[in-house]
Amino acid sequence: MSKVGIAEVQPQDLTLEGVAERMSKHQARIDELVRRYPVKRATLLQVLWLIQEEFGWVPRLGIKWAAGIAEVSPVHAFAVTEFYTMYKQVPPARWHIRVCQTVNCLIQGSEALIAHLEEKLGIACGSVTEDNLFALERVECLAACGNGPAVQIDDEFLYGPEELNQHEDGWHTQAADVDRWIERLRAEAAAHPEWETVDQLGGIILDSLGHPGAPKASGSPNQETYAAAPPAINLNAEGANGKITVHALIAPECSKLVFERSDDDLGFSEVGAIDPSTIKGPPGPKTVTFDDRVDIGKTVYYRAIAHSGNRVATPSSSIAITTEARPEADTEYNLKVLSDEKSGKENGGKKEVNADIAQASEKTANKEEGKK
Ligand code: FES
Repeated sequence: MSKVGIAEVQPQDLTLEGVAERMSKHQARIDELVRRYPVKRATLLQVLWLIQEEFGWVPRLGIKWAAGIAEVSPVHAFAVTEFYTMYKQVPPARWHIRVCQTVNCLIQGSEALIAHLEEKLGIACGSVTEDNLFALERVECLAACGNGPAVQIDDEFLYGPEELNQHEDGWHTQAADVDRWIERLRAEAAAHPEWETVDQLGGIILDSLGHPGAPKASGSPNQETYAAAPPAINLNAEGANGKITVHALIAPECSKLVFERSDDDLGFSEVGAIDPSTIKGPPGPKTVTFDDRVDIGKTVYYRAIAHSGNRVATPSSSIAITTEARPEADTEYNLKVLSDEKSGKENGGKKEVNADIAQASEKTANKEEGKK
């Protein structure tokens, strides 16, 4: 067996056009990915999975092609591929050995261990043994720094001398430990020639319903508690013609925004609910508006509560709004019931004032529980 470097393991006859040609059979799935996410860069992880599904690993030109689909720079796509070690940057083998080369493991001897493994397997990191049993790959931090140099066989950690994933405090991977595992796996492969020589790890999640912020997508987290629903922010208001318009900014995944009003900033009641999907505009965060009318001279408080499917966000900050009559204004105020004192001057049987926002000051929404 001869040693090869990572550059040599890249298919010499593969071109960017060749990648595009092989991936053309996945075009419908790629179109669907692009449709379901608010921005193209959000497709990158899944497009890389598709590359791995097609090739069995992610060659450099596959990364470059995925970058083109996701409209990110190739170096960005490469950094993503490096970070997520489930993307194989080495052709697949029956067992995939990963050794962490990041600094914590470096100072615990990862280079010496890699050199030992290369010698033991007769290959350089970034390549596969001729019998297709072992691929050897350098990876970045595997979050097992305390037992470094960290080594994984497929997705299992060498954490102890005998069993995979058997964590022992203060234990550090030794050359003898990986040797024992390699011998054991070779023996198992010899005893089971029927085993597949290639472990096809990973693949796209076929039944994903898409990012909740994407048009027509109906996705939701598997667990309701997975992530808090993002609250509405930037609550603001303006007034004219006797009408109060309240604005709030919502995240793309918001499926309903409820506006609430209070006379005292303590007890709030729902005064309206908006379905953001009815608002035209590009995918992404949206500004939702709600129109309301209140008596002149009154102070009211508004807040907004975002819903993302079944998840309900914490209420937004509240704003206080005081309306006042401005008889000098020439805009028409058409509230039906106004007393003479509040209405301003008469004009052809109609009351004519301008309801303006005298003050709209933000108050914190996170008031004591009793106030909500
Ligand atoms: S630095 Fe190697 S596992 Fe963290």
